[in-house]
Amino acid sequence: MNTILKEDLEYIYKKTGRNLEKFKNSNIFITGCCGFLGYYFLNFFNAYKNNLGIKSVVAVDNFQSGRPEWIEKLAKESEIDFQVFDIIDGDIEKIKLDKSNSFVIHMASIASPVFYRKYPIKTIEANIWGLKKLLDLYKDESLKGFLFFSSSEIYGDPDNAHIPTSEDYRGYVNTIGPRACYDESKRFGETICYEYAKEYNLPITLVRPFNNYGPGMKLGDKRVPADFMKAVINNEDITILSDGKPTRTFCYIADAITGYLKVLLHGKFDVFNIGIDKPEISILELANIYAEKGREFAKYTGNVIYQKSDEKNYLTDNPNRRCPIIDKAKNLLDYNPEIYVEEGVERFLKYIIEEGVKE
Ligand SMILES: NC(=O)c1ccc[n+]([C@@H]2O[C@H](COP(=O)([O-])OP(=O)(O)OC[C@H]3O[C@@H](n4cnc5c(N)ncnc54)[C@H](O)[C@@H]3O)[C@@H](O)[C@H]2O)c1
Repeated sequence: MNTILKEDLEYIYKKTGRNLEKFKNSNIFITGCCGFLGYYFLNFFNAYKNNLGIKSVVAVDNFQSGRPEWIEKLAKESEIDFQVFDIIDGDIEKIKLDKSNSFVIHMASIASPVFYRKYPIKTIEANIWGLKKLLDLYKDESLKGFLFFSSSEIYGDPDNAHIPTSEDYRGYVNTIGPRACYDESKRFGETICYEYAKEYNLPITLVRPFNNYGPGMKLGDKRVPADFMKAVINNEDITILSDGKPTRTFCYIADAITGYLKVLLHGKFDVFNIGIDKPEISILELANIYAEKGREFAKYTGNVIYQKSDEKNYLTDNPNRRCPIIDKAKNLLDYNPEIYVEEGVERFLKYIIEEGVKE
């Protein structure tokens, strides 16, 4: 196993701690398993399934961009049951699944802005009808936890008075812009979860992830941390498609997954920001970190350059600042992210070098 991945899985296991005992004798169902976050969840459950006394793990995806090598490998070597399923038009009753004592992790969605702008209706359908279908499947079962992946994008483009942003901020979102298909369907997804949790007394939890990055991201997925990594590893210039001034905090995948597991295991309805609260840096600063780490570890000789995106709506409604308040998760879940962006980018780069990936 890749050294960085192995260390990260151990870090997640240690940081999630005694909470993990709640997985004993449970069945786990994961949608959108083939994506960036799925990579870590599945490797984690593969590594610790027996240790934690988990009965079964069923993982589905529509595999729209094919089955990557790591899925083929896990399908052969692990006890994880992979099934092809489209959350929009698939017949959910056909999934072979033990629905008792279940933890459900619902991630199936189009997550990269370039792709959700291209497929807006499918984005809405997965986030709304797909979610409803899944809740209907479990509403009368002995559910132990249901984690809906919402997004920090539900906050839209907050004014400076609401940055950093806490869970009680209600958002400043455009209902009819090019990002609305994602932002508004995640918002409505939260409402559906809220109503199902009340009506059927279900332990549904909502998580609002803030800009994750790291191993498992497809380098062609067109999110900024992936674009920059692709440039470094191919020794090409790092291209910024804005003026470089928008700011974000970037949460390394191992910290994020620790947070998601804690939210999943919370046991009652609630909503949590999961991300890292510092440092809030500009896209230019992020590009410079990638360039520095590239020079240090990959003989990188490229520069940071500016270009205009080919896509007309690339910057429309792009939030100027994104930074979470994570006190609620810190206080209620003992969530405490520790991997800051320089270390995270270094880990991501070392992972990619060891894997020998270029695409
Ligand atoms: N990664 C982040 O920083 C971040 C931030 C905010 C929210 N999220 C949310 O977290 C979840 C996982 O994110 P990710 O980064 O792993 O995304 P990803 O795009 O890497 O993975 C999503 C997976 O869902 C699958 N999928 C899409 N539509 C589907 C459908 N109709 N039926 C079945 N499968 C389908 C895709 O094939 C893909 O494998 C998503 O719901 C996303 O919106 C992620």
